Amino acid sequence: MNGLKLSAILLVLVVGVAGCGKKESASTSGDAAPAASATKAIEFVDTQESKPLVINAALFDTPAAKEFLATGKNPYIGNEEAIAKGKKVFQMYSCTQCHGPEAKGQVGPGLTGPTFRYPKDATNKGMFETVWHGTNGGMGAKGVGLMDPTDPKNGITPDELLKIIAWIRSMSNGLTGNE
Ligand code: HEC
Repeated sequence: MNGLKLSAILLVLVVGVAGCGKKESASTSGDAAPAASATKAIEFVDTQESKPLVINAALFDTPAAKEFLATGKNPYIGNEEAIAKGKKVFQMYSCTQCHGPEAKGQVGPGLTGPTFRYPKDATNKGMFETVWHGTNGGMGAKGVGLMDPTDPKNGITPDELLKIIAWIRSMSNGLTGNE
């Protein structure tokens, strides 16, 4: 009898504590990103003015893209399959025309570093922002003209861009961008 009573009390305590914990974490993640999953998200800024850059979390629709959104690290670095795909996507979106077939520079600058026009491009988050939103000096959003960079129908997806960056880093003498 006593044993039963005791476990009943314990059960109430455990449920009570678990309930509190849940409530707390739900409200913090709710503040950060209402529509996204419970994971935290990095904050993007544009390359032109370092202003907050909002990118629809739903566009990050692969495991690698979701991981990048949470951590700012590019999981495709060193992944041979992703690198090969990245090279193809680079051609498909005409990056080649301005940056050359090996990204060593043509009309636009070389992309393999170690120095960059925008120093933040030494990081994968920085390079992602530069390509996604464009620059002041001659490159539009996603590398192509002026367009709404948040419209999923316009060009490159986050996952494709991470593959492009992995390809660029594979030729960058050990610079991974994830440091
Ligand atoms: C119309 C020509 C053009 C196209 C197409 C283009 N770019 Fe660019 N890109 C440029 C120019 C010009 C710059 C230098 C901009 C500046 O100085 O502000 C640049 C800058 C960059 C930078 C920053 C380099 C640095 O040193 O900081 C990256 C990264 C980049 N481009 C990647 C891409 C990718 C990836 C694509 C394809 C999705 C692409 N570009 C398509 C012209 C182009």
